[in-house]
Amino acid sequence: MKAFLVILSIIFVTVAKGSSEKVTIECDSVTYFKSYFRSGAIHSSDFDVTCYIDNARENFDLIKTCAGFKSIYFNIICSNLTYLSTKNSIIKKIPSNFFMQVPKLTTFIATNVNLEEIHRDDFKDAENLIVLNMADNMIELLESEIFSYLKKLRILDLSNNKITSLDEETFIGSGDDLYEVYLSGNKINILDYNVFKPIATNKLYPLKLNMDSNKVQKIKESNEPNSIQFHVLSLNKNQISKFSCSGVKISEIYLEENGLETFDCDAQYISIAKNNVKVLKLQNNAKGLGISQNNIKVFSVDEKSEMMSLDMSDNGDISLQLEAVKNMTKLRRLSISSSFIGTVYDDLFAKMENLTYLYMNSCGLKSISSRLFLKNTELKFLEISNNQLEKLDLNVFIGSRQLSYIDISNNKLSRIGNIEKIKTILPELKQIKIYGNPWKCIEFSTIMRTLKQLNIKIADNEPINKNYDVPNVSGIPCY
Ligand SMILES: *[C@@H]1O[C@H](CO)[C@@H](O)[C@H](O)[C@H]1NC(C)=O
Ligand SMILES: *[C@@H]1O[C@H](CO)[C@@H](O)[C@H](O)[C@H]1NC(C)=O
Ligand SMILES: *[C@@H]1O[C@H](CO)[C@@H](O)[C@H](O)[C@H]1NC(C)=O
Ligand SMILES: *[C@@H]1O[C@H](CO)[C@@H](O)[C@H](O)[C@H]1NC(C)=O
Repeated sequence: MKAFLVILSIIFVTVAKGSSEKVTIECDSVTYFKSYFRSGAIHSSDFDVTCYIDNARENFDLIKTCAGFKSIYFNIICSNLTYLSTKNSIIKKIPSNFFMQVPKLTTFIATNVNLEEIHRDDFKDAENLIVLNMADNMIELLESEIFSYLKKLRILDLSNNKITSLDEETFIGSGDDLYEVYLSGNKINILDYNVFKPIATNKLYPLKLNMDSNKVQKIKESNEPNSIQFHVLSLNKNQISKFSCSGVKISEIYLEENGLETFDCDAQYISIAKNNVKVLKLQNNAKGLGISQNNIKVFSVDEKSEMMSLDMSDNGDISLQLEAVKNMTKLRRLSISSSFIGTVYDDLFAKMENLTYLYMNSCGLKSISSRLFLKNTELKFLEISNNQLEKLDLNVFIGSRQLSYIDISNNKLSRIGNIEKIKTILPELKQIKIYGNPWKCIEFSTIMRTLKQLNIKIADNEPINKNYDVPNVSGIPCY
């Protein structure tokens, strides 16, 4: 079976409304599909019509607007409309029988139209609707079973409205396909897992729910443990101080900027940056964790951890938490930038044989041992800028032949040991950042010459030396 495009045209119609204001409907992408069987016999034909209503008011009449098409397209437009979006319109209520006039509508977008109320019966004839976007409006209330006529609905966007609460009846009767629900920017103050039971139980595609930027403080546990499942639960920018998800399965949880103090949830991807979490005991199946800008004091996970990506930057002194980091042997990406780590022992990364990206900027590093990266054969990207390194010998990278990017800027380096062996030690090196070190001029000329010969890029944003009293090599000062 194949489908192809037969008609593509732009159609315009204007219907006078009052003296000055005009409702217009503009349609494009009138696509005529024909589907064929292999034999060539026509299987079916269909129209896909995208229209934009401009300047509609709440009492506008879609049929009349459509009837303005004095053309052969009339029928196509009016009865085959699949995608309808509003512009410059004010529609405080959905006009009665609205969806009856557009039986094939699959996408309805009425954002920023001052919509104040929606009711269950508004959607009685919207049985083909797949995408309903009513973001940026003034909706306060969602009555019981409000979406129960929308059996095909997949994506519901009610972000930036004035919804204060949801109850256990809100989603009853909603179709099984509903898997993306956006409720960010409302005023909901409790996350009650039971509200989502009708749309988060036994789903082929588990629910993605976004409730960022609400006023959630409390979590109400599920009263039917282990039946509710979220693919994504996003609760950034709320006021949750204690989070738990016992009895609820969540694959990805986002809780940034909540003032969070305790977190207990066995999710695969966890993002709790910008909180105040002190104690974190991780389950083994967590694969990604973002805990930058917290205050982690107790951190534990065992050696069977599946963790592949950890961002623990900006957490104060984490020297005592490195034991748990060491247990994450599957790490591929690790950032501990702007966290103080003190003395780094040789074995810190020794079991992370797949470590590829490592960020250790501003960690208070005074030295690194020659054996630190010995086992990190996959390391490609290394940032150790803004530390106090006085010595760096290329032999430290002898185990990491894949390295292609190194940032050693803003340290206290005056030379790089074994620079002449760079080609043998780092055959893949493409780029290095070196500015902000007190380079010794004689040695630095050698460094620069070697890098140039090997076509290794000195990273782009090197600050230009403005102090003409200081000698320089290619604009980078040396002493
Ligand atoms: C779509 O347009 C065609 C052509 O005018 C018309 O025959 C058909 O009835 C329309 N489809 C529906 C569902 O109204
Ligand atoms: C590291 O893993 C071991 C073995 O699984 C465990 O006994 C130990 O408590 C873990 N350490 C931390 C700090 O989590
Ligand atoms: C590193 O990656 C390889 C290939 O994906 C995998 O077989 C191996 O188990 C990984 N090592 C660790 C320590 O996870
Ligand atoms: C670099 O040094 C040369 C003299 O060796 C000088 O002419 C030039 O202005 C300096 N460039 C910068 C950017 O300081």
